[in-house]
Order: sequence, then C-alpha cells, then structure tokens
Amino acid sequence: MKTLYVNPLPVRIWHWTNAIGFVLLILTGLQIRYVGQVDLMPFRSAVVWHNWIGFVLIANFFIWLGFYLFTDKIKVYHPELSPTRHFKASFRQMQFYGYGIFRGDPNPHHVSIYRKFNPLQSMMYQIVMMILVPVQFFTGVLMWDVARFASVVDVLGGLRVVATVHVLLFIFFCGFIIVHIYLSSLGHTPSAHFKAMVTGYDEVEDETPAAEKA
Ligand code: HEM
Repeated sequence: MKTLYVNPLPVRIWHWTNAIGFVLLILTGLQIRYVGQVDLMPFRSAVVWHNWIGFVLIANFFIWLGFYLFTDKIKVYHPELSPTRHFKASFRQMQFYGYGIFRGDPNPHHVSIYRKFNPLQSMMYQIVMMILVPVQFFTGVLMWDVARFASVVDVLGGLRVVATVHVLLFIFFCGFIIVHIYLSSLGHTPSAHFKAMVTGYDEVEDETPAAEKA
C-alpha cells in the first residue's frame, strides 16, 4: 500500500460544506413542500434557512468549479479520452458493483493521482456537478423571487414546471446521497474514502506502472 494525496483542501472544504448544506436543504425543503404534514420547524424559518443555505451553496459551488478549472487536477475527470475504453471500463465496474464485489473479486479500478475516480464515478459526478446541481440552484433562485424572474419563469413554462423540476431533483438528490454514501464505503476499508475526504490522503494498492513512478 502507498499513501496518495487525492483530495486537496479546496475540494474537502467544498465537499463537506456542500454535504452538510444539502442535508439541511433537504430538511428545510421537506418542511416547505409538506407544510401541514411535516412539523420539523416553523414554515417561515424553513423558507429563510432554505434561501440562505441555497445561496451559500451556490457560492461554495464555485470553489469546486474554480479549483478544477484552474488546476491540472481537472484530469481526474477526464483520464480516459477513448469512448470505447471508457464504456468497457464502466461495464467492468458495473459488473464489479453488481456481482464481483459479493464474490470478493478485486476492484477493477486502481486509484492513482490522476485516476482517483472509476469511470462510473467520473461520469456520475460530472452529470451531478455540471448539470443537476446547477439546474437545482437555477430553479431555486427563480422561485426565491418569482416576481423578479417572472419573464424567465414564463419562458420555461411557468411556476409549475420550475417547481416540478426542483422537486424532482430534490427526490433525485435524496436517493443520490444514499447511493453515494454506500459506494463511498467500498474502499479497502469501509471508512477509507470518508477519512480521505477529511485528511486528503488515501491508502491505495501500489500498482503504479514503472513509467508513471519515474
Ligand atoms: C451527505 C453526505 C455525504 C457524504 C457522507 C459524502 C461522502 C463522500 C466521500 C467519502 C467522497 C469521496 C469518495 C469519492 O471520491 O468518491 C465523496 C466525493 C464526492 N461527493 Fe460526496 N458525500 C455526501 C454528499 C454529497 C452531495 C450532496 C454531493 C453533491 C450534490 C456530493 C458530491 C460529491 C462529489 C462530486 C465527489 C467527488 C469530489 C471531487 O471532485 O473530488 N457528495 N463524497
């Protein structure tokens, strides 16, 4: 085993702020959406907290985006440029998660400094961070001040459409967090990836090709 610095400080600050914020957004969002059925806090407080946390997370998002745009670490999201190899590797990873892992097979993905994600993680994280999270923020901002953004809301099909997209993504994120935590527990020990997201360092099999070590 060798130790690799996989999660630089800006990623860790962004991640834990984002994770705590999302859980709070889910709780306050539940209160707002199911007022009368759920009684976690007063409705008015839920709205105020939901708005503030939303804006904090929008600002926080730019830590993640800026870090990857302005460092060479963006390579962790594009290690494999051949679509055929990418989809073959994704299929191998799916077989491992769905079958191999229960037989004790080794993980087909080997972490290195620019290959910290397996192909499924890399694809999923990009969809989440580049599409779903921005759409959630955008629809949230539109509903924060419907009067101000009335023309945009109308172009998008009205408040009902905007609210439905926001709620569908809310349901997606509830499921995402559960699957994300499960998959994050599949490191060489159940807590390995969580510790790595706290300390920055992960322990990985020493299988780096000689050329990469030099
Ligand atoms: C709520 C509890 C959460 C926990 C315990 C958690 C845990 C983790 C852990 C352990 C990792 C490292 C494993 C890996 O690299 O795949 C990770 C990475 C990541 N998580 Fe989470 N997560 C949470 C919520 C979220 C949420 C809500 C999002 C997005 C909406 C998110 C997005 C990501 C992304 C994009 C990465 C990769 C970060 C990078 O660019 O290096 N996580 N998470």
